[in-house]
Amino acid sequence: MTDAPPGGLRPLALYVHWPYCARVCPYCDFNVVRDRGRRQEQAQLASAIVADIAAHARLTGPMRLTSIFFGGGTPSLMAPVWAAEIIAAARAAWTSDEALEISLEANPTDAEAGRFAGLRAAGVQRLSLGVQALDDASLSFLGRNHGADEAIRAARLAAALFPRLSLDLIYALPGQTPEAWTETLARAADELGPEHLSAYQLTIEPGTAFHRAVGRGRFTPVDAELAAQLYEATQAVLERRGFDAYEVSNHARGAGARSRHNLAYWRGWAYAGVGPGAHGRLDLDGGRTATAAAPGIADYLAAVERTGLGWGGAGEVLTSQAVAEERLMMGLRTEEGAPWSALAALSLTPSHPRVQALAEAGLVAPGAEALRATRAGRLVLNAVLERLMV
Ligand SMILES: C[S@@+](CC[C@H](N)C(=O)[O-])C[C@H]1O[C@@H](n2cnc3c(N)ncnc32)[C@H](O)[C@@H]1O
Ligand code: SF4
Repeated sequence: MTDAPPGGLRPLALYVHWPYCARVCPYCDFNVVRDRGRRQEQAQLASAIVADIAAHARLTGPMRLTSIFFGGGTPSLMAPVWAAEIIAAARAAWTSDEALEISLEANPTDAEAGRFAGLRAAGVQRLSLGVQALDDASLSFLGRNHGADEAIRAARLAAALFPRLSLDLIYALPGQTPEAWTETLARAADELGPEHLSAYQLTIEPGTAFHRAVGRGRFTPVDAELAAQLYEATQAVLERRGFDAYEVSNHARGAGARSRHNLAYWRGWAYAGVGPGAHGRLDLDGGRTATAAAPGIADYLAAVERTGLGWGGAGEVLTSQAVAEERLMMGLRTEEGAPWSALAALSLTPSHPRVQALAEAGLVAPGAEALRATRAGRLVLNAVLERLMV
């Protein structure tokens, strides 16, 4: 069903969602809540996550844990002792791969930087730092609770403390020129020491403050032509600095710097999701099962209390067509592409007329083993997927 590597225990990635944020950013539609300092609730949540991990292990049986990813929200607001307990629970639940990757998303404020050493001691090896921009005007537009100097300080400290550092940046801010974006990217790559960069195009998500602001005419999102220029500038600047674009928004300095956790998603491997609103994909007796934990903190705590699992034990068994569609959607985001063997339920082959037509348009490259999107294809990925999945 999935193209996981043969031999030994089946691989498993673990996603841990920590929903608290010091301030909710106007563009963000992740499952987040404002951190009001409710330590007791947070301690309960950490304990519930530990219990949820143990319940997942009873369900999956023995597996090889290849990555743990603390995402959010802002897991750098988590007390390091809870991160250590969650890591210990995961290591006890499954067999740790010798190259187990442990990543954590952090915001670059001085207060959080003060916790970096504790998070490193708890076992985090890879920090994914949300610097977003390197000038105060852009950070203020994005509603961030830190300035550029603070972000740079946090990045330098993180580079010194953690063996692996990734930076998140957002581009396509209104009025941003390719020159200004190029300068930001070049500074991030040259001066802050990351092995990995995620460059996300600003998207205006329904339900966010930015969506309301655009509706009221406060600002206009950049048009498709400028967005494409900014995307091309991203590829060019980072390629020159030795980063390969191994996924639409992700760039790594060499294969060892790629995010093993995200690769598990993009390759269709199994992953468990714990914490409010976390999603998972497990291979259970009924087949590939989609899980979704209760998004609200109180509901999540109640579900774990009742059933052990944050998703209450009622997952959705996916059809082989749905599994193949996910594999296609995820695989085409990456340089590796989606293997033909995983696309059989969609009847897609190298000689399929729809594949041929997209290849002639320069949007996909059908190889012997896998279907890949070209760089031009990745820029219009949704349109490519629509044509392949009709
Ligand atoms: C879940 S957030 C967590 C990171 C951390 N809390 C922070 O803000 O630095 C992961 C990343 O998603 C990106 N992101 C979130 N909403 C976005 C949007 N609407 N458009 C583009 N990027 C977005 C940001 O770059 C952010 O760092
Ligand atoms: S971007 Fe990060 S800090 Fe801002 S609301 Fe989203 S998760 Fe929280």
